[in-house]
Amino acid sequence: MAGPEHVAIIMDGNGRWANARSMPRAFGHKAGVEAVRRTVRAAPRFGIRHLTLYAFSSENWSRPPDEVRDLLGLLRLYIHRDLSELAANGVCVRVIGGREGLQPDLLDLIERAEQRTRGNVRLNLNIAFNYGSRDEILRAAQKLVDQARQSPDCDRRLTSADITAALDTAGLPDPDLIIRTSGEMRLSNFLLWQAAYSEFVFLDCMWPDFDEAELVRALEEYGRRERRYGAVATARDAAL
Ligand code: IPE
Ligand code: IPE
Ligand code: MG
Repeated sequence: MAGPEHVAIIMDGNGRWANARSMPRAFGHKAGVEAVRRTVRAAPRFGIRHLTLYAFSSENWSRPPDEVRDLLGLLRLYIHRDLSELAANGVCVRVIGGREGLQPDLLDLIERAEQRTRGNVRLNLNIAFNYGSRDEILRAAQKLVDQARQSPDCDRRLTSADITAALDTAGLPDPDLIIRTSGEMRLSNFLLWQAAYSEFVFLDCMWPDFDEAELVRALEEYGRRERRYGAVATARDAAL
């Protein structure tokens, strides 16, 4: 099977990685940023056109304030430090997730990163930040209600394409492959609508240990899957 065009990753296990080294959780988050760099650099070499990384969930605000501060600081640092390299390497950055209530300097940084890299086509890097799939679907539904209110004479029925187009991921293909590190096997409110027919690969490695070899492991596993989308197996298998 052809390789996945869109890979989404739930980058989990930073805290446990640090704990195992008797270090504070922040140490794990910092090491996690290095794994992000490695992954973004490697992705285009494997034919990946869209890479979506779950960096901070809408539920992660419930962590201790120090940890939340560390995580926000790391996003700022990553954009500051890597934006030039990303722009030069043809990476188009997009941040998905709720924007309301984010600090103005962070909003400004996100908007600058998106604007500066807008025309790039080598890799679409989608950073899911303050992202929760239920929140995204709720915002999309509200958008559609607001649009309908503005044209009360229109009695057209909604289609699934209307919802897809109102989500933060509008214009992106659904993820072919969703990888989660750290051995946890759940979605934790990630891409619930978009993952309808995604393949899942759960890796035992903690996110700071994720590297090209782990990516290859996940891609090889994906290559052994057969995607049926509810239909029957391929003609050759069905004939057996
Ligand atoms: C992933 O690592 C990073 C974020 C969720 C922001 P965790 O911080 O969840 O690490 P564990 O799961 O506690 O080990
Ligand atoms: C999911 O990881 C969110 C991110 C990777 C950003 P969590 O560590 O927050 O998820 P749970 O709490 O284990 O489900
Ligand atoms: Mg976790």
